[in-house]
Amino acid sequence: MKQKIQDLLLEIENFNAKSLDEVEKFRIKFLGSKGIIKDLFNDFKSVDVSLKKEIGQALNQLRKEATEKVNALKEALEDQKQEEKKYGDLTRPAEPLDLGSRHPISIVKNQILEIFSRIGFTVSEGPEIEDDWHNFTALNLPEYHPARDMQDTFFIETDPDILLRTHTSSVQVRYMENHKPPIRTVSPGRVFRNEDISARAHCIFHQVEGLYIDTDVSFADLKQTLLYFTKEMFGKSKIRLRPSYFPFTEPSAEVDIYWGLETETDYKITKGTGWLEIMGCGMVDPNVLKNANIDAEKYSGFAFGMGIERIAMLLYQIPDIRMFYENDVRFLDQFKSVI
Ligand code: DAH
Repeated sequence: MKQKIQDLLLEIENFNAKSLDEVEKFRIKFLGSKGIIKDLFNDFKSVDVSLKKEIGQALNQLRKEATEKVNALKEALEDQKQEEKKYGDLTRPAEPLDLGSRHPISIVKNQILEIFSRIGFTVSEGPEIEDDWHNFTALNLPEYHPARDMQDTFFIETDPDILLRTHTSSVQVRYMENHKPPIRTVSPGRVFRNEDISARAHCIFHQVEGLYIDTDVSFADLKQTLLYFTKEMFGKSKIRLRPSYFPFTEPSAEVDIYWGLETETDYKITKGTGWLEIMGCGMVDPNVLKNANIDAEKYSGFAFGMGIERIAMLLYQIPDIRMFYENDVRFLDQFKSVI
């Protein structure tokens, strides 16, 4: 009998159940009114007196172990059931992760930077809160210069010298102050203008500025660089440069690309002309070089600046600039496939 009890103890110890049904079967087998333990207690009556104490203790131990096992398994399985109710089947396959997407402004910005990096331009950045010198004066826009009105500026109330930059041209100046020619750099960034918000204009938007300075840089170099860019960016190889005015370049031009007149949208966005204005550019004014301590006798250069929103609106046919800043997932979701 002693041996039998030992064997049963081992069986109880090793038992495990996957369901409450199995636990119940185990309970009936060991602890039921016709169970093994009941039988053993019946047999106990005929055990020799000299062994009664020892076997009696062993039997009690067996009953205790069996009861504890049943309770422990029941509790564990019930907990698991509760968890399943709460979380569902925890072994089910995971839901696919919803991946985010890049913002269209980032997508277009990265494309522009990548195209220029292929022809040796580095990327540089500057502060959004600027001083008057870097945003205006050094760019040949001295105080009271009428062209300051071209860009309505947000000033810091307590200090008229500090403002939110109105263009990324300020980074040109900072870059020239800190680097010697040859210079080839593109500067992306956020700019601010005190303008009414509409479908076409916002008080916050993004630009990419370009600067190239070396000996013997000519207008032809500028034109060729821009032609390369428009081919890579838009797949269009016809551009025209219209004379224009910017205080920091002389001569200055606005760049149009021939978009075509194939679809109704082409008519709409080009106002029936087929041409689209995409950026401003020009030869860096010698005054600007001098302001940044670059020898204007020895060096010349070109610069250009473009709005990222404007280009993104063209490429993705986005009708309203405000969509970029609302963070509506129905809008953002549409850029998932673009990297
Ligand atoms: N800074 C001009 C603007 O905000 C854009 C621009 C025009 C930049 C001509 C240039 C340039 O570097 O040469 O409208």
